[in-house]
Amino acid sequence: MNKNIPKIIIGNLKMNGSLAFFDSYLSALKDGLNNENKVNVGLCLPYPYLSQAQSILSGSKIGWGSQNIAKFENGPHTGEVSAKMLNDFGVQYVIVGHSERSTAYCESDENIAEKFNNVKKHNMTPVLCVGENLIEREAGIMEQVVAAQIEIIIKSFGTKIFENSIVAYEPIWAIGTDMAASPEQTNHMCSFIRKIINQDGLNEINNLKIVYGGSLNSKNAVQLFGLNSVDGGLIGRASLNINEFIKICELAQSFET
Ligand code: 13P
Repeated sequence: MNKNIPKIIIGNLKMNGSLAFFDSYLSALKDGLNNENKVNVGLCLPYPYLSQAQSILSGSKIGWGSQNIAKFENGPHTGEVSAKMLNDFGVQYVIVGHSERSTAYCESDENIAEKFNNVKKHNMTPVLCVGENLIEREAGIMEQVVAAQIEIIIKSFGTKIFENSIVAYEPIWAIGTDMAASPEQTNHMCSFIRKIINQDGLNEINNLKIVYGGSLNSKNAVQLFGLNSVDGGLIGRASLNINEFIKICELAQSFET
């Protein structure tokens, strides 16, 4: 059912950029997205540039955010950044459980669940990344893998925690590969994610957005945004090029969820 909700586009800048880069990038994004742009846009930057995003983007319709968060409130956790620190910089979106972190830093599903809860507790919007790797897809167990990633959060905190949240279906095999999931694969998995969080329609969750991520760009965006099950995109490489990112935001304008 079309509820006339604009799509949401989130750029994940990963470990890229510099003061000079973000100075021109953020200003160009603000100028490039006209005020009639109906799409919700967010940018998740490396921590050191959050203050810059806050000063350039404040007052615009573009939200900013981080790519991780600590599960702790404060204390002896060298290298970690707390939710309250993110609040200080006006952060709206926090990516949680990105596969580049869970694989490289052995982040467990339990840790991810605690981080998700911490984001919600401090009134920010989690962008929870879930998805299977290539071996799991070839074995046909992608539903079980994704269900397990979500169910650990439901088991600890209940389904209502997913209100006002974003879940990104990011198949690991599609990230950084130029091999985006097909519309059929995307539709299937995004519908499946909604179904397990909504518990087959028994428990409608308010303002839950399911987006797709993995080699999304201006060439495949229309096909993927055209799917009713897809509320938007989480964009890596293509968000690094400001013109490409603005183009994707513009393409998303013609669709509603
Ligand atoms: P790419 O768009 O570069 O494939 O990255 C996707 C991603 O990891 C977004 O979080």
